[in-house]
Amino acid sequence: MFAEKLSSMLSRLFRPQPKYITTTVSPAMAQQLPPDKMPRHVAIIMDGNGRWAQKRGLPRSAGHAAGTEALRDIIRASDDWGIEALTIYAFSTENWARSKEEVNALMGLLLKYFASEIDELDEKHVRILILGDVDGLPGPQREAVVNAMERTKDNTGLKLNIALNYGGRQELVRAARALAEKCRLGELEPSDIDEDAFAAELYTAGLPDVDLLIRTSAEMRLSNFLPWQTTYAELVFDSTLWPDFDRACYLRDLRAYAARDRRFGGVHDAPEAQAEGIGGAPDGQNAEGAP
Ligand code: FPP
Repeated sequence: MFAEKLSSMLSRLFRPQPKYITTTVSPAMAQQLPPDKMPRHVAIIMDGNGRWAQKRGLPRSAGHAAGTEALRDIIRASDDWGIEALTIYAFSTENWARSKEEVNALMGLLLKYFASEIDELDEKHVRILILGDVDGLPGPQREAVVNAMERTKDNTGLKLNIALNYGGRQELVRAARALAEKCRLGELEPSDIDEDAFAAELYTAGLPDVDLLIRTSAEMRLSNFLPWQTTYAELVFDSTLWPDFDRACYLRDLRAYAARDRRFGGVHDAPEAQAEGIGGAPDGQNAEGAP
């Protein structure tokens, strides 16, 4: 009896571990989330590729390659689950400071990604938009992304936004310059500049604000990603390294989002106000006061 138990314990302990943990999550499982608790716009900082590779004694480029595989399925899942917009941080303006070898590997992956995925994305009616300075990309990458945007611009499915050569502060400066230029040309009065006018000059013009921002690898910072658009986003810091991030992780983060209480700086409606369909704070409370 004891010997049997011991042998079963040992065989469980020394069972070869799968290289990738694959978890299948059906659309039905995702549908368990109430539709009104699904985010319209999810943004993801895909962090941890380097550490994933390092843990395996592999070059950092292998981590980025594995991260690209994870990305393929997360895009499919977003489409399957009816997410309206998905924005991913693929390459920041600061990433040029990495080694030449790593930058080349990332640029190579980008080309491979567009060549291999564009047909499927287009068939699924995915609309691709690049957020960032496309003109600052090397020729072949620029051509690939411009073609992808052009080919999918009228698609009405998932809005897939790829932040590439993107910096959040640069995006804000660019918008301020565009508005200043309109004022200089007499097309706009400074007093006409409001939040809508500003948002219309961002790469994300026309997209809803980010509802849920996920960052993987347990790092807890925003790294110059979508500063305007994430003002009221719910933040989920997931400890999974990006290449291991799969549908089950995504679903877990969507569930965490669904459980959040979003108040947008206000407070909950008083029951009587709710019944009458009137918004506002209970007596003596400032509707703007809550974080
Ligand atoms: C951060 O991990 C990840 C990046 C800088 C690149 C993310 C790119 C991809 C997942 C693939 C390329 C995208 C497309 C659209 C093909 P890190 O390298 O900083 O990880 P570390 O913090 O563990 O070092």
